[in-house]
Amino acid sequence: MKNPEKSGKVEWKPGNMLYPLPAVMVSCQREGEKPNIITVAWAGTICSTPAMLSISVRKERYSYDIIKETGEFVVNLVSKELVRAADYCGVKSGRDVDKFAQMRLTPCTLNHIKAPGIEESPVCLACKVVEVKHLGSHDMFIAEILGVTVDNRYMDEKNKFHLNQAGLVAYSHGEYFELGKKLGSFGYSVRKTDKKSAGRRKRK
Ligand SMILES: Cc1cc2nc3c(=O)[nH]c(=O)nc-3n(C[C@H](O)[C@H](O)[C@H](O)COP(=O)(O)O)c2cc1C
Repeated sequence: MKNPEKSGKVEWKPGNMLYPLPAVMVSCQREGEKPNIITVAWAGTICSTPAMLSISVRKERYSYDIIKETGEFVVNLVSKELVRAADYCGVKSGRDVDKFAQMRLTPCTLNHIKAPGIEESPVCLACKVVEVKHLGSHDMFIAEILGVTVDNRYMDEKNKFHLNQAGLVAYSHGEYFELGKKLGSFGYSVRKTDKKSAGRRKRK
């Protein structure tokens, strides 16, 4: 809904309005205990070489101590088939429930770390914590990505991975969305072939 009666901009007090974001399912496990999943939206890519990402987690979360103690976690991307489970893992605590069991998810073994991934996720990133930064409400776990495990169903005969066919989900302002129409690809604004076809479209 866009209100045609109103124009201009209004300023709000500082807050988190950087959207859309990926809401990811972060799996973790202490040796000898059940594996757990926490949904995290305050997550991001922070370095290419070495491949690094960060997740920000409140100290009160059951997962916080597990990740701090083990120094490991797995970032599992969320597809539309997983979105209900992602929401559940974001409102229920591992202190009270076994989220893998409740959501009928399967822990899977990954290389490099002991924490399990989620078999049903299209991409699992095995992460090793390299730094914990206290920011305020959240601590930021800065981690190196030691391994990337992808679902074979999205690989074609030429071994090309079609991530955007996995029905990935974005989180924006309290709501979940399935990614929709493709608008372009990296660098398309300056590519000759795209410019030509844009011109052809205009002339029609
Ligand atoms: C979409 C979504 C995003 C969330 N993002 C974060 C986050 O970035 N950091 C965080 O500490 N909690 C976040 N939460 C809340 C935790 O996932 C939630 O408190 C969860 O129950 C914690 O699980 P645990 O106690 O088993 O660790 C989010 C919840 C939802 C639904």
